[in-house]
Amino acid sequence: MTMQTPTGNLPGAAAAPPLPAGLPDAAQLARLANEFFSAPPGGAGAPAISAGSGAVGGVPSALPTAAPVLASAGNPAPPGSPLAGPGGTGTGVPGLSLPQGYVPGANPPGINLLPGAPTHVLSLGNRAPALAPHAAAQNGLPDQAVSVLPALEPRVGGAALGVPQANDLGSATTIPAGPAGQFYYLDEAQRTTSPALAHAGSPYVAPATVVDPRAFGLPAEEDLRDLLPLQRPGADEPQGKRTPAATHYVLEEARAAAHPREHTREAPFSPVRAPFDVNAVRSDFPILSERVNGKPLIWLDNAATTHKPRAVIERLAYFYEHENSNIHRAAHTLAGRATDAYEHARETVQRFIGAASPEEIVFVRGTTEAINLIAKSWGEANVGEGDEIVVSHLEHHANIVPWQQLAARKGAILRVIPVDESGQVRLDECRKLFNARTKIAAVTQVSNALGTVVPVAQIVQMAHAVGAKALVDGAQSISHMRVDVQALDADFFVFSGHKIYGPTGIGVVYGKRAVLETMPPWQGGGNMIADVTFERTLFQPPPARFEAGTGNIADAVGLGAALDYVKRIGIENIARYEHDLLAYATSVLAPVPGVRIIGTADDKASVLSFVLRGYQTEEVGRALSEEGIAVRSGHHCAQPVLRRFGLEATVRPSLAFYNTCDEVDALVAIVRRLAAGRS
Ligand code: ALA
Repeated sequence: MTMQTPTGNLPGAAAAPPLPAGLPDAAQLARLANEFFSAPPGGAGAPAISAGSGAVGGVPSALPTAAPVLASAGNPAPPGSPLAGPGGTGTGVPGLSLPQGYVPGANPPGINLLPGAPTHVLSLGNRAPALAPHAAAQNGLPDQAVSVLPALEPRVGGAALGVPQANDLGSATTIPAGPAGQFYYLDEAQRTTSPALAHAGSPYVAPATVVDPRAFGLPAEEDLRDLLPLQRPGADEPQGKRTPAATHYVLEEARAAAHPREHTREAPFSPVRAPFDVNAVRSDFPILSERVNGKPLIWLDNAATTHKPRAVIERLAYFYEHENSNIHRAAHTLAGRATDAYEHARETVQRFIGAASPEEIVFVRGTTEAINLIAKSWGEANVGEGDEIVVSHLEHHANIVPWQQLAARKGAILRVIPVDESGQVRLDECRKLFNARTKIAAVTQVSNALGTVVPVAQIVQMAHAVGAKALVDGAQSISHMRVDVQALDADFFVFSGHKIYGPTGIGVVYGKRAVLETMPPWQGGGNMIADVTFERTLFQPPPARFEAGTGNIADAVGLGAALDYVKRIGIENIARYEHDLLAYATSVLAPVPGVRIIGTADDKASVLSFVLRGYQTEEVGRALSEEGIAVRSGHHCAQPVLRRFGLEATVRPSLAFYNTCDEVDALVAIVRRLAAGRS
């Protein structure tokens, strides 16, 4: 990006040419300009530009006209056009509408198109921009700049929502700072940052018409007050309280102290209901601009793992640049920062899934480790000879093998809920499996191989009716639907961070407090002990009891950032968009000659497994990969359910909220070409 020469710098501000008449407060502008142009491009202190800060989606910007205002990555089509998005209706193909509940050519008709809420419209984004991620913005800036800001700036709104950020919202709620935080670093931040930063959900809330340096990621007036001779001391500050210092280091310290505040306070849950703009969302994910095999990457392997928004990538970098330390074990400052960041992430998870307290959240490596923890701790203590464990035919190997191992050790029995031809569990048969010997039911909420959404609440009730516990595997549901563990009433809920736009190597066990408290540790070591002698060890209460050793601190923090990102977009917005995209994908893939879709339940999420007559699944996967399209082909770690359908493997495109109709069309075009080649 080309930058203009600054018109002056701070030491020389008095000698700088006079600013044009009509601009408010020349000293303030000079200060802003200096910081703006001296900040390292792309660095944490660099001026940050976000589409959400500008005139996005027709929402007027609060920024001055001189400030960079990026073009909207949103929909250029006129209102009413079938191409109109975000939140447009239709298939994106002029003249072609998608009748609700009916798929042309599908067998059986109606496959996968029964909307949960039959009144909502297809809300897929427009098509062309999704395949042109590098399109120049109207002001000549590269499109990638659109999402520079999100990482360290919690937003109420932003590019992905097509609504202004918190500082643009004249009506933004100002939430006063709470009492001194329970954590070291919160306290530290409260001492060292200005009161203006003490607003939940945003680093600041400024009147809509005021230029605020923090809109550019720059220090606030208060932060600079004592560094610069231009301003009087704050009226609300006792004279002489602030340190008279003039080094950049101090400035950085102030900024560094401010950032965790931005991460440790939260926006209200899904505060803004707004149209979903898939192109704005895409601009938040750097990897979606990647090319593979000379083609734009089309990532349809989201059930295997999801990509990471810049908010997560930059949060990880921030942790390692400013907070890195082991946790809970030292009196020094970085230990405090790291501990606060980690424990804040735990609270973020707690709120995201509706748990009653952070003590109910245990960090683990992922879903597999989560289920192993439960099987080895709760299972060892509670399952005996002749006892029964209920799983469904849909389960991932991670929710079969640990129970099988436990059953083998204990002489217990694994009982399996059958599925019907559509891939849905048979609740009538399920009911018959529960009895006084049942100790636990462990079921997935969404099948990773077929996409079936399982009525887990009913299975939880059946388990509880016979005094058994219930575990819900949320690995494939967490990113696609609202999860409320208290409403679900599951004793355990588990998921992986990397399936919901967070890092790999971090996952969660939610356990009801009363249940966790009865469970013995499953691994021993540091962090999980209260006291150790050679004769005995006293253990910490949950969750520390289950977190032996140094955990994945940074990635827990990254997971918190991912959940914050999802909250800003709104899980309901995501669910609605993905539902419609899956309906569209089914409608265009199912009629391809030779395609057989595996998994046709009425209620599905994300996954579109299929086989193609005349082809091995790897052949289809390779042909797609040559065109830049990533899908998984194979058994998906769910061999039992594929064998239920007479198969060893399927091709499995799986969708996320950053996928588009164009991407689906590209997939289907290749499948059609293959089908024609061997028909
Ligand atoms: N469980 C992941 C999948 O379904 C790896 O692909």
